Amino acid sequence: MRQVYFDNAATTSIHPRVIDRMIEVMRDVPGNPSSTHAVGRKAKSLIENARKTIAKQLNVTAGEIIFTSGGTEADNLIINSCVRDLGVEQIITSPIEHHAVVHAVEQMENQYDVEIKLVDIKACGSVDLDSLKNLLKASAKKKLVSLMHINNEIGNMLDIDAVSQLCKKNDALFHSDMVQSVGHFKIDLQATPVDFIAASAHKFHGPKGVGFAYIRKNSKLRPLIFGGGQERGARAGTESVHNIVGLEEAFKISYENLDQDRKHIQQIKDYFKDSLKAKVPGVKFNGNCGDNDKSTYTLLNVCLPVPPEKNLLLLFQLDLKGIACSKGSACQSGSDQGSHVLNAFLSDEDKQKPSVRFSFSHENTKDDVDYTVDVIKQFIEEPAFSAS
Ligand SMILES: Cc1ncc(COP(=O)(O)O)c(C=O)c1O
Repeated sequence: MRQVYFDNAATTSIHPRVIDRMIEVMRDVPGNPSSTHAVGRKAKSLIENARKTIAKQLNVTAGEIIFTSGGTEADNLIINSCVRDLGVEQIITSPIEHHAVVHAVEQMENQYDVEIKLVDIKACGSVDLDSLKNLLKASAKKKLVSLMHINNEIGNMLDIDAVSQLCKKNDALFHSDMVQSVGHFKIDLQATPVDFIAASAHKFHGPKGVGFAYIRKNSKLRPLIFGGGQERGARAGTESVHNIVGLEEAFKISYENLDQDRKHIQQIKDYFKDSLKAKVPGVKFNGNCGDNDKSTYTLLNVCLPVPPEKNLLLLFQLDLKGIACSKGSACQSGSDQGSHVLNAFLSDEDKQKPSVRFSFSHENTKDDVDYTVDVIKQFIEEPAFSAS
């Protein structure tokens, strides 16, 4: 059966060059990076080279990059330590963050005397910057602002420059979950004075289980995980050398191919949008993902005009036809809670319809789009859809 992978915001395939490099390291570099002998020093030098590669691209210093087990750990490390060690009294965040931030913030509220404030979300699913401005000015409490750069469900892009300037002006720390943007966009952390970011290798064709936190120099964050002195004391535990080298390789390839991949993926997204508009009357694009200036080129979140009786069958049908994509639906009838992101801004009418996230990579083709749009069209039009 035909297979189409349109779930690249969930995870990407590992690039073949990354796999080769990881195998080489697993085979040829057995040392523990903390060992002082030559075998250990070899492993250590690979990690330090990876740190330098990442730092150079992001325009920061190598000491500001801390390897973690992924985006979730990086978000947790930053949010926890800001409250526990830096005396943050108020966290300003949004209701549309990834659960790695939403639940880390909730945990801080349960554990510490910290106040949580949520910015307003506009009808298009974007953060209301006036609301952020008002919250920043409302009290003299020490603040951490945690707002993601690119929303993983709807693709809306935050005006990160405006937010970082606002935070700076109001003496607030600024953390941005950049898991969906690192590897897909050029990022200069000197030009955009963010204090902390989180990134994850498996979102840009690297291995799962590795990522990094950027922690601005002299921030005085302390570890989430205690033990040995690895990662300059910021994250204990023997480093996953092959994963870190895999992350570095994927990162390099992403930035080497950025312009060419972006052009291809943008064409896929535009073609998908146009085909849906032509063949599925009544289709809507959730949030700003239909607007290329305000959203990432890597995803499309669509609200489909499916009759209510077939609502729950759509994802099942796409799966049966070999199409991998993500359910992005708001709260519908039944026990399912739905997407906290879509629930934050969709109209009541659109919440009743199924929404699906299609997310792209350089591996997708226009044929993938044609096949998928035809499956959707057939599903919507056929009164009683046959699975054959
Ligand atoms: C925006 C965002 N933040 C954080 C994460 C978590 O990253 P990881 O899977 O590396 O823990 C994800 C992954 O889905 C994400 O999309």
